[in-house]
Amino acid sequence: MSDFKQWSEERARHFEVVAYDTLPPDNKLPWKLHEAMRYAVLDGGKRIRPLLVYASGLLVDANERALDRIALAVEYIHSYSLVHDDMPCMDNDTLRRGKLTTHKKYGEAMAMLTGDALQAQAFFELTQTGLTSEQTVALVKLLSSAAGPAGMCGGQAVDLLAAHSDLTLSMLTTMHRMKTGAMIRASALMGLYAGQTMPEPALIGAIANYSACVGLAFQVIDDILDVTAETEVLGKTAGKDAANEKPTFVSHLGLEKAREMAHSQIEIALDSLASIGASKEKTVRLEEIARYVLSRDH
Ligand code: IPE
Ligand code: IPE
Ligand code: MG
Ligand code: MG
Ligand code: MG
Repeated sequence: MSDFKQWSEERARHFEVVAYDTLPPDNKLPWKLHEAMRYAVLDGGKRIRPLLVYASGLLVDANERALDRIALAVEYIHSYSLVHDDMPCMDNDTLRRGKLTTHKKYGEAMAMLTGDALQAQAFFELTQTGLTSEQTVALVKLLSSAAGPAGMCGGQAVDLLAAHSDLTLSMLTTMHRMKTGAMIRASALMGLYAGQTMPEPALIGAIANYSACVGLAFQVIDDILDVTAETEVLGKTAGKDAANEKPTFVSHLGLEKAREMAHSQIEIALDSLASIGASKEKTVRLEEIARYVLSRDH
């Protein structure tokens, strides 16, 4: 087993235990909501956002407990975004992470509340890190701007408006940077705030650049996999973008050029990482995550 596979699997297992212990219990009122929140978060997903949190934490000798809370926060927001993205009013999907989508399992009203509750719970977790007020404010600022109208929600709104219509490549790039890139970028940046002191501006700049490129490449590959991968491997219905008439990097550029585009973003990301001049052991996981984004099959 490769070193990265071993590290990422161990981190994902660790995250699962932390999430299992931290999510509200499904034997306590309102148990249906708690059950649906646990269903949406536990047992599924590649956990790329928590992995980014843990990987960038290595650059600042981060506090482990703080990293766990930050990892929960980013994965709660991401899981909520998937629950809402799958609802009939948005992409209308029935399969997610190899299971029924949350609204299929619990109904639309409960799915809506599951997303709402996970979003609130994400910010609660940021109050539980044990970090300084200055660090906590910075974390809240990063997560709220990545999840809000300038980030994920805004990108999802552009995505909905763009269905059945043409977007320029520049608009498509902006949409991807917002709907997916912003949360990936925030995940990598937030890990930097779990050290003893506030991170240096040069480090923030390099990781911001690295993660913006990784985030854009991540959604370009998502568009490619929607066309090339099988539903069984993806754990979500393949071919949905074309069925929903969504403009994507593939519909715009074709498979080959979309792949080239993702590759060139990852090259830029790796250059930004190298510019930090940190020791290999501090950057190797971020480097491996960037490469994994290109090689992933689901
Ligand atoms: C899917 O995200 C939606 C996008 C933002 C592209 P992931 O591919 O990270 O989904 P999971 O968390 O692994 O299920
Ligand atoms: C969703 O993009 C991005 C989110 C913010 C959830 P997609 O609609 O392409 O994600 P999938 O393909 O359903 O996972
Ligand atoms: Mg969508
Ligand atoms: Mg979707
Ligand atoms: Mg997709």
